[in-house]
Amino acid sequence: MKLTIAILPGDGIGPEVTKQAKKVLEAISHQFDHTFMYKEALVGASAIDKTGEALPQKTLDICLDADVILFGAIGDPKYDNNPAAKVRPEQGLLQLRKALGLFTNIRPIKAYEQLLEKSPLKKKIIKGVDFTIYRELTGGIYFGEKKLSDDGKTASDLCEYTEEEIERIAHSAFKAAQNRRKKLTLVDKANVLESSRLWRKVVANVSKNYDDVALDYLFVDNAAMQLILNPKQFDVILTENMFGDIISDEASVIGGSIGLLASASTGKKYALFEPIHGSFPQAKGKGIANPVASILSAAMLLEHVGLHEEAASIHKGVEKSLKLKISTPDVNTDYDTITTEKVGDFIADYILYPDDSNLNFHNIHLGQSTII
Ligand code: IPM
Ligand code: MN
Repeated sequence: MKLTIAILPGDGIGPEVTKQAKKVLEAISHQFDHTFMYKEALVGASAIDKTGEALPQKTLDICLDADVILFGAIGDPKYDNNPAAKVRPEQGLLQLRKALGLFTNIRPIKAYEQLLEKSPLKKKIIKGVDFTIYRELTGGIYFGEKKLSDDGKTASDLCEYTEEEIERIAHSAFKAAQNRRKKLTLVDKANVLESSRLWRKVVANVSKNYDDVALDYLFVDNAAMQLILNPKQFDVILTENMFGDIISDEASVIGGSIGLLASASTGKKYALFEPIHGSFPQAKGKGIANPVASILSAAMLLEHVGLHEEAASIHKGVEKSLKLKISTPDVNTDYDTITTEKVGDFIADYILYPDDSNLNFHNIHLGQSTII
């Protein structure tokens, strides 16, 4: 297959983790005989520094022309504590989501057998957890009208949803549930918010097309508690933009590290794949950032274009790396010498040489080549 992939590394650890995902994609193209072409573009703080804009037109054009997009991370502390900043790195990602119509954000949450001990939650609570969050991505309070009074003392952000915006993601979430354990939980705040009551009404209507899927509802405050108390109850969670942002960070604790979680943002025409973590500026350049979320985002990208065997081969590489503790310090307390680069090298090597007999186990923790 020929594929043009736009790569937007972004800020902080974005470039270093994306580099590993690209390395893994290269191994895939070699092993499975595909041609992947990459087009890099600026976004976020690094784009503001060079062009004055968080999403330069050139970047948008590259994304519009590409088949799929691999995104790193954005954000820079120099903007975080400056409420007066006119342009913010995050606008780059939000504008991109809106411009490409990426209204469905899919965030799979899974407890890896190899990492059950690493989560701050008890093993018996997280063992076997496997659910997916469907987060609405181009509406709600993120995109509603923003106001600041002239005296700067009153501010508001409008949370608005239309029936159509709810319907389209609800259909995707129900379809996903049909292919899973056939349960969908709508997370909202319908006891307080009018917009949530519209979500309930529309989702209940859409559910009539999916008789085989059981639908239930949870208020977001209760959902936040249930995610920690009994995460196994969930199969597909459907929710609006802001609630999805918050509960997906919370859910990442189940897997042991936010550095493992990938996501896909899809619309009618375009698709973008990105880790759910941020730019982690404190870790930039230190070689400690976990590249697995970016590598698994690349796997979701391949899945999206129908390359299932290829995606499975990435998953095998990731599982093997976790098993052998070829992992960065966030999930690895036994070996603190494994860098971002080494994890990428190992997973790429494993794709090229999936037969264990080619692996030099002695070299693995010495930081040397893993291939004999
Ligand atoms: C995410 C991030 C973004 C969001 C930020 C960087 C704008 O936290 O993708 O979850 O809030 O959507
Ligand atoms: Mn977030």
